[in-house]
Amino acid sequence: MSARKKRAAGARKARRESEKNSGRSKEAVLSDGEFNRAETAAKYIFSKTSLRPRIAIVFGSGLGAFADEFSHATKIPYAKIPYFPQSTALGHAGRLVIGKVENVAVAAMQGRVHLYEGYSAKEVAFPVRVFTRMGVKALILTNAAGGIKSDFVEGRLVVIKDHVNLQGVNPLSGPDDERFGLRFPDMSVAYDKEFREQTVREGNRLGIEMPEGVYAALTGPSYETPAEIRYLRTIGADLVGMSTVPEVLAARHSALRVLGISCVTNAAAGILDKPLSHIEVFKTTERVKGQFIALLRAIIPRIAESIA
Ligand code: HPA
Repeated sequence: MSARKKRAAGARKARRESEKNSGRSKEAVLSDGEFNRAETAAKYIFSKTSLRPRIAIVFGSGLGAFADEFSHATKIPYAKIPYFPQSTALGHAGRLVIGKVENVAVAAMQGRVHLYEGYSAKEVAFPVRVFTRMGVKALILTNAAGGIKSDFVEGRLVVIKDHVNLQGVNPLSGPDDERFGLRFPDMSVAYDKEFREQTVREGNRLGIEMPEGVYAALTGPSYETPAEIRYLRTIGADLVGMSTVPEVLAARHSALRVLGISCVTNAAAGILDKPLSHIEVFKTTERVKGQFIALLRAIIPRIAESIA
């Protein structure tokens, strides 16, 4: 299309939008944007697969290999999905994989985006908005985390029981679009009790001891100081990381049921006499990959039964 035609098409689109929006509040128009963008992205995803998953999974640092084992898989790079944020972090492939696990359809993010990449909380939570428009009912969030509680040593898998949001932002800030959910979502049981119990039970059946813990979310990208870790312990945190909470907030806004699993990749800062590094995080996720995949394989059919 020539530059002149493009400009004319752009002007026509702007006129149509403005006619559609006339008489509506600025807030309504703004929040329309996010809803419509999520709807457009969901439609695009549905045009690439005939599966209609009701469970979505977000894989944290180094934990995405499981998606390569899905059957009937369709892999869509985030770059192809309208409005989807791109992951820039190491160990985050940046692909949405839709396929089947134990005959259950799932949509999985091989890699997420984080606040420390420069994204806003709304952008970080956008994929969850898309999942809601796809009809997803349960969201499994996984992450790599530092262990604060003394027995949360490197390599342990922990079920997230609750969180403390220390990121200073919330994806629900700004005008509320009631098509997503209510203005003031309840967070008293943000992490679904039945899912947590199922995970502990399935873990034990597989010989994996699955403790529960409270996750504190900071923005990163710097790791914490020992003083910050002492502070986090005092306020009741057992785990620390740089993700997950924005996604949980958007999910609960739309009443998705949430399961969170942390892989403790390192003892938090100041606990051991050694510096923290991303390499160590990777080495640990690589080591527990088998256990992590076995656990998810066991949990997914249970979750599918719960939301049926
Ligand atoms: N702190 C914050 N985020 C993390 C850590 C940590 O120690 N380990 C993995 N992600």
